[in-house]
Amino acid sequence: MSHPDLLSVKGLQVAHGEAVAVRDLSFTVPQGQVVALVGANGAGKTTTVLTIAGALKPRQGRIEFDGASIGGLDCRVAVERGITLVPEGRLVFPQMTVEENLRMGALNRRAAPNFTRNLDKVYALFPRLAQRRSQLGGGMSGGEQQMLAIARGLMSEPRLLILDEPSLGLSPKLVEDLFTMVRRLNEDGMTILLVEQNVRQTLQIASLGFVIEKGRVVLSGTGQELIADPFVRKAFLGL
Ligand SMILES: Nc1ncnc2c1ncn2[C@@H]1O[C@H](COP(=O)(O)OP(=O)(O)O)[C@@H](O)[C@H]1O
Ligand SMILES: [Mg+2]
Repeated sequence: MSHPDLLSVKGLQVAHGEAVAVRDLSFTVPQGQVVALVGANGAGKTTTVLTIAGALKPRQGRIEFDGASIGGLDCRVAVERGITLVPEGRLVFPQMTVEENLRMGALNRRAAPNFTRNLDKVYALFPRLAQRRSQLGGGMSGGEQQMLAIARGLMSEPRLLILDEPSLGLSPKLVEDLFTMVRRLNEDGMTILLVEQNVRQTLQIASLGFVIEKGRVVLSGTGQELIADPFVRKAFLGL
């Protein structure tokens, strides 16, 4: 039996050197849902997801994945367990082809044997990448690189897919496509933690949202509740 909360973060504190970026942060990601983390620049969102993915060590607090404590595991172990972060800024390998980039996503023990099947799946999801499979990652447009970064993440067979600012720098049309794609992935069963500055579109597809300020959750609710919240409307929706 899977735990109803795929991810649970309790009292998390994380610092960069002496500078505390996340203080006493708690939230949950129920199985099968899209959960949003929203907040201004510098609120601590990226620090939080890097810690969940094992790239930073928590100072305090507890991170549970499918009911088991994972705080302080390294990235490779986190990916083995099923946590995949598509990082802020995409970080596509520019000198590798599209397909080589995808292969880099499939290096974990769980996903490696299913490489061909997973490749067919992501090419069906992103036909544009299939057409460009032999092109260099660095030669792709911003939107294509974002799709490639997400596709590379999917090659690892995540149970929890974490997307950090995937719409950053995309044109409005591509932002639409991105949100459609996130929604479709979720409808196919993927649990998604979405960090975004496009607050309205994010809350429209999120079943739960958490507003972060200075490393703490200051507000939470369903996507619809947050869209209607006076603070959210003023701070993030320009209303
Ligand atoms: N590598 C780092 N070294 C020092 N401070 C950092 C580093 N990364 C982030 N910070 C600081 O931590 C705080 C939270 O940053 P971050 O997690 O990137 O926020 P967000 O993703 O919400 O914009 C900010 O004050 C930021 O300046
Ligand atoms: Mg960030």
